[in-house]
Amino acid sequence: MSIQISGAFAKNISSAKLRLDVHQTITALAKAAIEISHLCARGPLDTDFGSLAGSANSDGDAQKSLDVRTDEIITSALKGTPTAYYASEEQEGIVTLDRDKPLAVASDPLDGSSNIDTNVSIGTIFSIFKARQTAEASFMRAGREQLVGGFFVYGPQTSLVITAGNGTELYVLDREEGVFKLAIAKMHIPKDAHEYAINASNFQSWHTPIRTYIEDCQLGAFGPLQRKQNMRWIGSLVADANRILMRGGIFLYPEDTRQGYENGRLRLLYEASPIAFIIEQAGGAATNGQSRILDIELNTLHERVPLVFGSVYPVSQVKTYYQNQVDS
Ligand code: AHG
Ligand code: MN
Ligand code: MN
Repeated sequence: MSIQISGAFAKNISSAKLRLDVHQTITALAKAAIEISHLCARGPLDTDFGSLAGSANSDGDAQKSLDVRTDEIITSALKGTPTAYYASEEQEGIVTLDRDKPLAVASDPLDGSSNIDTNVSIGTIFSIFKARQTAEASFMRAGREQLVGGFFVYGPQTSLVITAGNGTELYVLDREEGVFKLAIAKMHIPKDAHEYAINASNFQSWHTPIRTYIEDCQLGAFGPLQRKQNMRWIGSLVADANRILMRGGIFLYPEDTRQGYENGRLRLLYEASPIAFIIEQAGGAATNGQSRILDIELNTLHERVPLVFGSVYPVSQVKTYYQNQVDS
C-alpha cells in the first residue's frame, strides 16, 4: 500500500463505489510518485537526466527526458485503475484507457521542468473527474466539478497535498516504509500575508493593474499597502503553492503582452484548476485576477489561464487593482 488515506478524505464523495475508485486511483498515483521521486533523487547519476528529449509538447515547450519518462510512468500506473480517460500536458490528445471505467484523470506529470538539473523542488499535479460519455466531455467543463485535486512535491520531503472537497490534507512519504502518511489533516492558509511570488523579469510586459500592484508591493511600508512585503519566486508552481499553503502569501502568473502569453503561462486543466481546488479547500482564493478559477469552463485541452492565488485578502486586493485601473 503506497498511501494511508485518511478516513475523512473522501467524505464528500457520496457514492461508496466512487470513493473506492478514487482511493484506488490515488494509491496508483502515489506508487508512481515514489518511482518518480527515486528518479529525481538520482539526478545526474542517470545519464539522460535533465537532458532534452528532442521533442516539444502541445504548448511548444521543449520536453525534457524526465517529462516524457514521468508521463510514461503515470500512463502505465493509471492503466490498472478505474480510469477511462487520461489528459496530459505531455500528450497532444486525450488517451482512452478503458471507456467503460468511471474516472477521468488530467495531469502535469512534471511541473517545474526548467528546474530539473538545478536540484530545486519539482512535482506532479493531477485532477480526477467523474468520466462522462466521451473523452472530450470528461474534460471540457469547469474545475469546480473535480472530485480530487492534488500535487506531489519531489523535494527535501516527498509529499502529497490533496483535497476531495473536505479540506486540504498533507501526506509525507515515510521512505523506510515506502508509504505516504498523513502529516496535516487540515491545511490552513492565513487570511492575510505579506509575501508575493511573481517572475519580476516580465515587468515590462505586464498590464497596468498588475504593474501597479507589484510597484505597491515593492513600495511596501512607503506605499498604499503600508507594510514591508517579501518576495519569493521558485519557478516551480508546486513549490510556490506548497510555501503559500504553509505560510500564506500570493502567487501571480498574469496575462502579459508577450506573444503567446495573452492568457499567461499556466494551463487551466492540469495546473490552475487542481491548485485552485486545493487552495480554496485550505481557506484561500484562486482567480484569473478577477474571477474564480473553478468557475471557468475549459474549451480547449491545453488552454492557458492567468493565475492569482493564495491568502484571501491579497487576492481580493488584486481584484480591486483591475476594477480601479484601465490600461493607459
Ligand atoms: P512546467 O514545467 O510544467 O511547464 O511548469 C512550469 C511553470 C510553473 O511550474 C512555474 O510557476 C512557471 O512555469 C515558471 O514560469 P517562468 O519560467 O516563465 O517563470
Ligand atoms: Mn507545470
Ligand atoms: Mn510540466
